[in-house]
Amino acid sequence: LPSRVPLPSPFVTELPRLTSLRPDGAGKARVTVRRKGIEILPGYTTEIAGYDGTFPGPTIEATKGEPLNLTVRNEIDVPIVNHLHGGVVPPQGDGYPTDFVRPDQEREYRYPLDQRAATLWYHDHAMDLTGPNVYAGLAGAFVLRDPAEEDLGLPRGERELTLVITDRSFGEDAELVYPVSEGVIDHRYHGGLLGDVMLVNGAPWPHFDVDAARYRLRILNACNARRLELALDGGFGQGTEIVQVGTDQGLLTRPHRRSTLTLAPAERADVVVDFTEHAVGSQISLVNRLDERAMGQVMRFDVARRAGDDSHVPERLSTIERLDPASVVTTRDFHLSLGTRLGQGGSHSSHGSAGGGSGDGGGLAMWSINGRPYEPGVDIARPRLGTLERWRFTTDVHHPVHAHLVHFQVEQDGAPAWKDTVDVGPASRIELLVPIVGYRGRYVLHCHNLEHEDRMMMADFSVV
Ligand code: C2O
Ligand code: CU
Repeated sequence: LPSRVPLPSPFVTELPRLTSLRPDGAGKARVTVRRKGIEILPGYTTEIAGYDGTFPGPTIEATKGEPLNLTVRNEIDVPIVNHLHGGVVPPQGDGYPTDFVRPDQEREYRYPLDQRAATLWYHDHAMDLTGPNVYAGLAGAFVLRDPAEEDLGLPRGERELTLVITDRSFGEDAELVYPVSEGVIDHRYHGGLLGDVMLVNGAPWPHFDVDAARYRLRILNACNARRLELALDGGFGQGTEIVQVGTDQGLLTRPHRRSTLTLAPAERADVVVDFTEHAVGSQISLVNRLDERAMGQVMRFDVARRAGDDSHVPERLSTIERLDPASVVTTRDFHLSLGTRLGQGGSHSSHGSAGGGSGDGGGLAMWSINGRPYEPGVDIARPRLGTLERWRFTTDVHHPVHAHLVHFQVEQDGAPAWKDTVDVGPASRIELLVPIVGYRGRYVLHCHNLEHEDRMMMADFSVV
């Protein structure tokens, strides 16, 4: 969607450091969802809906093993649902799409946080409204720390940064534009809404002054639909290595050096970037190789000063026990595709927005899993707690698949790694090992392209 307001030049605004929100002594924290006019494009005011009126929301910092009670209050005019993405949370507090927090209400979510340290995030999950609500600003990082990881020697303090990447488009008055018809994303954008301004921590193509030192970057692709292939470019064709130390669900077993890093919506990467060899005055751009023209720039690091650095990246980061495929008790197949169109007046009783035409005469284009559009309360699977399953996904186009509660064990660079969102490429097939741990109850699995999700690419599963 093209913006209709003059856009700033890249690297003019400074990268904002996100505010942190820490639980109080009793393990409680609170955020209030409200609308606020903030400056995103220099000289303009944009109204967002944000946790505590900020976009992205405050970064919630919590400690493994210390449960958090998060109260979320809704002071906007639409229902919201809070979901801790990647959290292992009992079903009542997980953020099931119809567990609405209505205007002027609040809800306490209990997060046990008895899981690996990782860069999680929290965002809205309201049925049919996840795309517009997240686009309006309802997303924030959630860093779950483990004191045992503090001794590894990775960069920390001022040299640890969380980067929340989002793309947005702005209307004539710099307002965020989200085209809706019949209650869901306009059918012309059913493939996913792409913005033409890249924001990092809410600032357009920012720059950030760094020491000539190592930095740990926790990168979150919080775009509704845009995939990113990130690389560091020092100019004159000079690349800078990215050392990946972690995925969605925490540290890898050992660091992986790579020249590019692909992140689909909702995926995270924990990386270390080494600026020690760069002269003061060098400029290193974070670029997106998937769109070299309009959206090829993300942000820029400016090496501002020499400085001491006693951080390092150890060759052994963590231990991940490789699951044995021979212990799989159930294999499930999920096919993600467009395929379903509800005709004019076609009924889909449990879905509030269905039944109307989309204006193209053929009804609403809907995304589906195993040929079915989302129907709350109908399970696609009933895995048993304590067992190991194999989930196979096949697709038509790119779909980043995500399940609540459970995590996926994947092979990455010859070692096991933990993920909660996996990008399944066009017409491809992947297999994931899925230990069914945590809690009994009903959860969802869905595509994390939020326009696909709102257009029903979601299914319930119940752990029994
Ligand atoms: Cu990040 Cu079901 O969501
Ligand atoms: Cu999808």
